[in-house]
Amino acid sequence: MSFTIAPQRPARLNRCELSVPGSSPHMFEKAAKSAADVIFLDLEDAVAPDDKPQARKNIVQAINDVDWGTKTLSVRINGLDTHYMYRDLVEVLENCGDRLDLIMIPKVGTASDVYAVDMLVTQIEAAKGRKKRIGFELIIETALGMANINEIAAASPRNESLHFGVADYAASTRAQTTQIGGPNPAYSVLTDKDADGNRAVHWGDMWHYATARIVVAARANGLRAVDGPFGDFNDPDGYRAQASRAAVLGCEGKWAIHPKQIAVANEVFTPSSKEIAKARAILAAMEQAQKEGKGAVALDGKLIDIASIRQASALVAQADAIAGA
Ligand code: GLV
Ligand code: MG
Repeated sequence: MSFTIAPQRPARLNRCELSVPGSSPHMFEKAAKSAADVIFLDLEDAVAPDDKPQARKNIVQAINDVDWGTKTLSVRINGLDTHYMYRDLVEVLENCGDRLDLIMIPKVGTASDVYAVDMLVTQIEAAKGRKKRIGFELIIETALGMANINEIAAASPRNESLHFGVADYAASTRAQTTQIGGPNPAYSVLTDKDADGNRAVHWGDMWHYATARIVVAARANGLRAVDGPFGDFNDPDGYRAQASRAAVLGCEGKWAIHPKQIAVANEVFTPSSKEIAKARAILAAMEQAQKEGKGAVALDGKLIDIASIRQASALVAQADAIAGA
């Protein structure tokens, strides 16, 4: 382990993060009663330009009046390249109570973007005597943001999580695709001919690099990594497959752009009872091994060692956090 220890940010469940347009107040109560761990009320891309002033008012009212229970509550502001962003922050933070937990910053391109929002939020918090410190969720969704991801992840003690904005990322990198998340048949490998002359097509995951890079930058800075949207909300199997890939790489959760996606995200990002039992068995076997002065042993015919303790402990800690929620 390095002598540099990344401070861990506030522990929050982030399995499913439901996006709700700020211009659709009729959806707020339903979202508050949903099974999502985190709700973000959107002022950015789900809200048309003319609707933004009213959406800010809706969001302030909803933060103050709706019973959000134990949910983590966030507001996605507009990007720093728009003239909406300063009003989003000023109007929402000056007028909403301490129920708000997070601000989500889209299209973060450089560490200075985070610095600028931090400065404004810090001033508003001080001027208004806000008691609870607002945390930041950062969407990595441009080539610039990906290029600067390590500096961005370390840019503020308010940072809590990095999110993969797959749609804008595809646009920014000029990827030849129009769907929101999921695989693309053009990103596949055609095998050589086998003995019978047959060739197989293996689909690849075109988002692997971006997701893995986000996970590494997030974890190196004690942040959560969260996978972004999957556009086809009538394809639960496709959503589950995408979420599972993200979970295996180290993401803690995924966005839901429709309530239909919530249950699948919660299921995928909750370790199964089989995985938990296996992790506990590894911990028990390693405890016994250490008593016997051994660093590695076999469990069910497979080698486990001290690194296995770290893997199993992380999984059990996540399961305990979910059970205690
Ligand atoms: C999310 O904001 C995305 O662009 O995918
Ligand atoms: Mg986006």
